Amino acid sequence: MPRLDARLKLVAAEIRGKIHADIGSDHGHLLAALLSADRIERGIAVENKLQPYRNSSATLERLNAEVRLGEGMDVIEENEIDSLSICGMGGQSIVRILSEHPNRLPKQLVLQPNQAIASVRQWARDNGYWLTDEKCTGTKRRFEVLVFSRFGPPHDPVYQKLNEVGLDESMGLMFGPWFLLRKDERLLQRLAEEQRYLQSKQNLTQTSRARVETIRRLLSSDHFLSR
Ligand SMILES: C[S@@+](CC[C@H](N)C(=O)[O-])C[C@H]1O[C@@H](n2cnc3c(N)ncnc32)[C@H](O)[C@@H]1O
Repeated sequence: MPRLDARLKLVAAEIRGKIHADIGSDHGHLLAALLSADRIERGIAVENKLQPYRNSSATLERLNAEVRLGEGMDVIEENEIDSLSICGMGGQSIVRILSEHPNRLPKQLVLQPNQAIASVRQWARDNGYWLTDEKCTGTKRRFEVLVFSRFGPPHDPVYQKLNEVGLDESMGLMFGPWFLLRKDERLLQRLAEEQRYLQSKQNLTQTSRARVETIRRLLSSDHFLSR
């Protein structure tokens, strides 16, 4: 059985469906680990490039899995899967894949965007998925894993919880509402470092100025000062 790195271990631990699809499966290790541990009954790996498709096919050969060559959710049917993972891609690519066939998405999504994580939270916020948990690796590079469940409207109550502790939704979308509510120490250290870095720069873009201001408000909020 392939060994998963810390990032994919976090993803695997969150998956709850019996029939699970992994989009952008690459080597196929995530599904192989889930099937070998009887964590899922059947796996569907999706790849849009030939060599990763072959790699996934080789890894999953003797397991209860199917490997499909195609674009994202194009090759998944409505009501076919219980859960879905998309890992190791940028947030914009993840959002594009999720947006293409909204009717084919399952109840549970486990997503691990490498960048533009806020765009994934925003997509979920606008599309009836509630962020039920978020985790991060303890490795040098911080990888975030977002776990969503479809509840439909009303809006995700986690952003209301943020308001109750004096923080706003935009902070939650940017840095993760659960990390903020839990006063995640590693996130705080990273924000303090980013604040020092941005403040040391001469000419900040408008986006960076807005970000440094949000970090300043967060770090000086009662919620964080009272920890
Ligand atoms: C950076 S790798 C990440 C692999 C694995 N998910 C992981 O986290 O270790 C991204 C993989 O997704 C595949 N991919 C990218 N866009 C895709 C799409 N729209 N549909 C299917 N596969 C895609 C790429 O071919 C590549 O193998």
